[in-house]
Amino acid sequence: MKIVTLTLNPALDKSSSVERLVPESKLRCGPLQLDAGGGGINVSKGICKLGGRSMAVFPSGGATGLRLQAILQEAGVEMRVHAVPGETRENFSVTETSTNLQYRFTLPGLDIEESQADTMLNIVAQLQPDYLVASGSLPPGLPVTYYEKVAAFAKKINARFVLDTSGAALKAAADEGLYLLKPNLAELSALVGVEKLEMNQVDDAALEVIQHGSCEVVVVSLGAQGALLVTRDGFEHIPAPPAKKRSTVGAGDSMVAGMVWALSEGKTFHDMAQIGVACGTAATMNPGTELFQKADVEKLLGWIKEYGERYRFRDF
Ligand SMILES: Nc1ncnc2c1ncn2[C@@H]1O[C@H](COP(=O)(O)OP(=O)(O)OP(=O)(O)O)[C@@H](O)[C@H]1O
Ligand SMILES: [Mg+2]
Repeated sequence: MKIVTLTLNPALDKSSSVERLVPESKLRCGPLQLDAGGGGINVSKGICKLGGRSMAVFPSGGATGLRLQAILQEAGVEMRVHAVPGETRENFSVTETSTNLQYRFTLPGLDIEESQADTMLNIVAQLQPDYLVASGSLPPGLPVTYYEKVAAFAKKINARFVLDTSGAALKAAADEGLYLLKPNLAELSALVGVEKLEMNQVDDAALEVIQHGSCEVVVVSLGAQGALLVTRDGFEHIPAPPAKKRSTVGAGDSMVAGMVWALSEGKTFHDMAQIGVACGTAATMNPGTELFQKADVEKLLGWIKEYGERYRFRDF
C-alpha cells in the first residue's frame, strides 16, 4: 500500500537552548539543532522510523528549502518537491534550561498560490497513493477551503484521505467527506460547534461526524488520556501508557504516522488506534522535536495490549 503525505506549509525547525531568557541582553545559546518540520513531513518521518515507506510531497523554496530536503534525505525519507519562489519558512524554538520551559517562535509560512498547490496535487496523482495524508496548517495564500479540494481530489484518484488539521480548514474538508480524522478534543468540539465537549460527550460527537458523512473513522486524541476510536459500529477507549513526559511536540503527528502505517500494513482499526497511541506517547518521551524511538513504541504497545483493558474509561 502506498502512502503519500502532503505538506503545504513545511518549515525548517531550528532549536537551541539558553540558561535564562533575559530581555535586552545577549543570550548565549547552546548548539543549534536543525529538523525538518511541518505536519505531513513529520508523518513521513514517523512512518520511516517504523520501517515503512511514504513519499513526502511539499513546496520547497530557496536555500532553506534545499536544507530541509537534505535533512530529510539524510533521514531516509523519500520526497517529491515542487520548487517555488521565495524561501521556505524557518521556525525557532529555545528551551530555557533553568526552567525547562520551551519558547516556540513560529514564522509565517511561505505564500503558496493555488496553482502551485494544484501542481502538487498533480504530483500526488502521478504517485497513485492508497493513502493520502495531510497534516498541519494551510500556508498564507491558499483559501481556507483548500483541504476540501484535496478531499474531493482524493476521491477522484481513489485514495483514502487522512487529515489532521484544525478550525475552518478542517470543517471545510469534513463537509466534503474523507476517510480518517484525528481531531483532538478542541478540534472535535469546534467541528461539531460546541465550545468544549465533556469527556462523556466525545463518542456521540464523533459518531455525529461519521453519520453526517464527514468520514469513516474518527480517532479523537485525548493527550495523557490516550484516544477514543469511533466507527459506525461503536467506540473504544485506548488509554495512554505511563511514560516519563519530556516534550509533547510532535505527539499528534507521531500518532497519525503510527495509524497510517498500521492501515497500510492491513491492520484493523483496533490495532491501528493502539499503535497510534503507542507512537503518540512514545513521542512525549523524547526531548525537543525528535519524534519517537521504535523501541519505545514496541514497549508501550506491549503495555496497551496487556493492561489497556484495565484502564479503559467505562462511564460513557
Ligand atoms: N502527556 C501525555 N502523556 C502520555 N501520552 C500523551 C501525552 N500527550 C500526548 N500523548 C499521546 O499522543 C497522542 C496525541 O496527543 P494529543 O492528543 O495531545 O494530540 P494533539 O493535540 O493533536 O497534539 P499536537 O500538538 O502534536 O498536534 C495521544 O493520543 C497520546 O497517545
Ligand atoms: Mg494536533
